Amino acid sequence: KVHLRDPEKVHLNAPVQQLPRALIVGVRKGGTRALLEMLNLHPAVVKASQEIHFFDNDQNYARGIDWYRGKMPFSFPHQITIEKSPAYFITEEVPERIFKMNSSIKLLVIVREPTTRAVSDYTQVLEGKERKNKTYHKFEELAVDEATCEVNTKYKAVRTSIYTHHLERWLHYFPAEQLHVVDGDRLISDPLPELQLVERFLHLPAAISRSNLYFNATRGFYCLRFSLLFNKCLAGSKGRTHPAVDASVVEKLRRFFHPFNQKFYQITGRTFDWP
Ligand code: A3P
Repeated sequence: KVHLRDPEKVHLNAPVQQLPRALIVGVRKGGTRALLEMLNLHPAVVKASQEIHFFDNDQNYARGIDWYRGKMPFSFPHQITIEKSPAYFITEEVPERIFKMNSSIKLLVIVREPTTRAVSDYTQVLEGKERKNKTYHKFEELAVDEATCEVNTKYKAVRTSIYTHHLERWLHYFPAEQLHVVDGDRLISDPLPELQLVERFLHLPAAISRSNLYFNATRGFYCLRFSLLFNKCLAGSKGRTHPAVDASVVEKLRRFFHPFNQKFYQITGRTFDWP
């Protein structure tokens, strides 16, 4: 018979800080927060609430793996920890660093239609500038080079949306099977099927159900239901109104992204109905 105070037993059951066994590596404005919060509905998932920026920030990385572990939430051995830092996806050094920590880690990338994502990215930066009372360029001026009238690939919001460029770097280290692509547009419109695909990818028993998610008409987004008494919508900074963008610029960007998208579908084996 095991007594509650049996020191061995207490030790075995005690929650510990575990390194993540899955990472949401990006992409910025893809819906990374919604994905993390929704996966956290699963009893076997424990989220790192903050973005730790361990692998993309040289100073943090230099602090070492024990520092990273120390940032993790306490969890039980049967649970998996998930961290998300959206800049991981586009940062050169990150795949190698993650590989060195755990070469069999599961990677999640959530993407949205590239032009929408770029506008969302712009909207976030614009909001920051407005808060500081700074003037800022229009999206059209940043996304299209004035002299050449071509898409400006130096603009970060454009570069980040060339998903295939970044993905190819990851595939130098990780086999495609270790990386799962989440459809961020579908996570907005109908999240459950996307979450079920992730459960399967992470080899978790199906536990997230319709009853965990409800559409909040005021927010215009799905919110989370943890119990009868505890509901939660994402912060107001998620689901911003985007500025209207000149139709010809949208068209130009969509044409520009098209060949990169085709390559992305080919590599991931997942086709999206992006225009
Ligand atoms: P917008 O603000 O452009 O609408 P990230 O967390 O990676 O920064 O992504 C933010 C995006 O998550 C938001 O972009 C929003 O569209 C999307 N999103 C997906 N599901 C959501 C949800 N249930 N509630 C709020 N935003 C959600």
